Amino acid sequence: MIKTGLLITLCVTALLATALASQNRPDILIADFEGDTYGKWVVTGEAFSSGPAKGALAGQMPVSAFQGNGLANSFFRGDGTTGTLTSPEFKIERKCINFLVGGGAHRDLTCVNLIVNGKVERSTTGRESEALSWATWRVEEFKGDMAHIEIVDRATGGWGHICADQIVQSDEPKAIIVDTTTLYGETYRPQFHFTSQRGWLNDPNGLVQYDGEYHLFFQHNPKGVQWGNMTWGHAVSRDMLRWEQLPNALDPDERGTMFSGSAVVDWDNTAGFQTGKEKTLIALYTAAGGTNPESKGQPFTQCLAYSNDKGRTWTKYAGNPVLPHVAGENRDPKVVWHAETKRWIMALYLDKEDFALYSSPDLKRWEQIQRLTMPGCSECPDFFVIRPFDLEVWVFTAANGKYLTGQFNGKQFTPSGGVQQVEYGAHSYAVQTYSDLPKSDTRHIQVAWMNGPTFPEMPFNQQMSIPCELGLYVTLNKEVKLYKRPVKEIERLHGREKTAKDVAIQADKPYSWKAELAHILIEFDVQNATAVGLRVRGGEIRYNVASKTLTALGRTAPVALAEDGKTLRLEILVDRASLEVFAQNGVAALTSSYFPHPNETTVEVFSEGAAKIKSLKAYDMKPAWPAK
Ligand code: FRU
Repeated sequence: MIKTGLLITLCVTALLATALASQNRPDILIADFEGDTYGKWVVTGEAFSSGPAKGALAGQMPVSAFQGNGLANSFFRGDGTTGTLTSPEFKIERKCINFLVGGGAHRDLTCVNLIVNGKVERSTTGRESEALSWATWRVEEFKGDMAHIEIVDRATGGWGHICADQIVQSDEPKAIIVDTTTLYGETYRPQFHFTSQRGWLNDPNGLVQYDGEYHLFFQHNPKGVQWGNMTWGHAVSRDMLRWEQLPNALDPDERGTMFSGSAVVDWDNTAGFQTGKEKTLIALYTAAGGTNPESKGQPFTQCLAYSNDKGRTWTKYAGNPVLPHVAGENRDPKVVWHAETKRWIMALYLDKEDFALYSSPDLKRWEQIQRLTMPGCSECPDFFVIRPFDLEVWVFTAANGKYLTGQFNGKQFTPSGGVQQVEYGAHSYAVQTYSDLPKSDTRHIQVAWMNGPTFPEMPFNQQMSIPCELGLYVTLNKEVKLYKRPVKEIERLHGREKTAKDVAIQADKPYSWKAELAHILIEFDVQNATAVGLRVRGGEIRYNVASKTLTALGRTAPVALAEDGKTLRLEILVDRASLEVFAQNGVAALTSSYFPHPNETTVEVFSEGAAKIKSLKAYDMKPAWPAK
């Protein structure tokens, strides 16, 4: 994907070696942090503890992409601690020093330094990511000199820590050339997950289908790659995979910046905005008072905007706000039509763990009908009905995807049990389902913001999850639960297919192939194994048979084997910056942002003890973006 040409400026982190490996001398290890102590390294302060970490420390997000079992990690007792690690002196004998680095991006404060003759000659920070990535220093000019390495944590605020591992002298650089400029061809541009062309993205907003077009609005900072200046970005698609980004839909104004909300088709013109033959699209959004200079001193309110041209242009309603301030930073209205009472129902986040339901005949006048509290939940509610067989089950979800199921009569939602969970991954947030799918489509399709680490060096930041179908199933204990699995539309991006049946795997006999973008459907017979799983581009997915748990990139979900007591089914999507895992047809999902090394394209199926791949279908995924 990396293109060269006169117009393309490549941000060269380091040059990829073209020299034949055989011409290179073997690497010299400086440190791999595999022992229980730092050995001859000198430790100061508290941040690095007394020896290498085995991964994430207490309170830290999952740490990934280090090598072996240990690394230097200065998150001991959190970001507030400081300290340094200094290597013994060594002679520079190779062209490069390669190392893995992660953690904070504070220049001079969270960094790995090369010191030659008492002077810091090279310094590299983390990139606000707990996924370590390769850095390379070219050091030919210092050949024969004595040097040492210092790993520094002098920062105490957010991202006030540094991680490092596998420091080696090599003749070959390991860091990669990062393309930051080829639109949709950038090194870490997800190839079948939605990202904004430029700038920051968070929550999916206004998910609505009309006239064959799926709209995806999104929390967007058009001015930078960090959160801020909240604006509704906009994209449309005919399959929820191949998106065309349109001009922004809602810009900040004197009521505030544009926080999250939803959109519906006003089929019966209840709000009275329809002018021509096209039905009106209506968006309900939060004006976040006080978040820009023009809205200083204003509270958070709920407002309406409408479009009579299939979402291409939007008019903010002159009577805004349609719902004045209620509590705290109340926000994120999600609207659904309740046919039986001919009322619109709005789910709204109020404050702390509190939400409310409102009812309206016309989307403009709202009356509160209920308050509810969801322990452990806040923000971005969603409320919708699923009709499996002849049942009718209402589902109330919060931003983290946790949910209640129950009954709703137009006035009162009565949950039938406690808060449940289907998603266990590190990066799934602000979930929202589509409104107004075509009549023939009875699915419920949910999109999440993958609230992951900063995209390294990219001109855009953050991505959406794959759209997922939600449905209900009943457990043996008669509990009603949600399943979640990728929409079938992803098959449209299938490329080369690889299949296998009844393949025995053992500890010393993994089964592997190469893939960068993949959709994998695998069924294991766990036989006598204690664990089975896959290593996908370096990221581990492991099923522990004894504990009946599935762990992907350090996050764990309870997953029982199928009724036969031996079958595990996994569906896996891997893109340039994500790994999504769905177990047993979607009874548990693990959604994560993930930055595999671009050259690391091995997929390996493993088992500990004898097991069998009952069936495997693995597809290369074609990029969803137009080739540039
Ligand atoms: C959730 C959230 C919403 C808010 C929006 C602001 O991620 O905090 O509650 O509307 O993001 O960008």
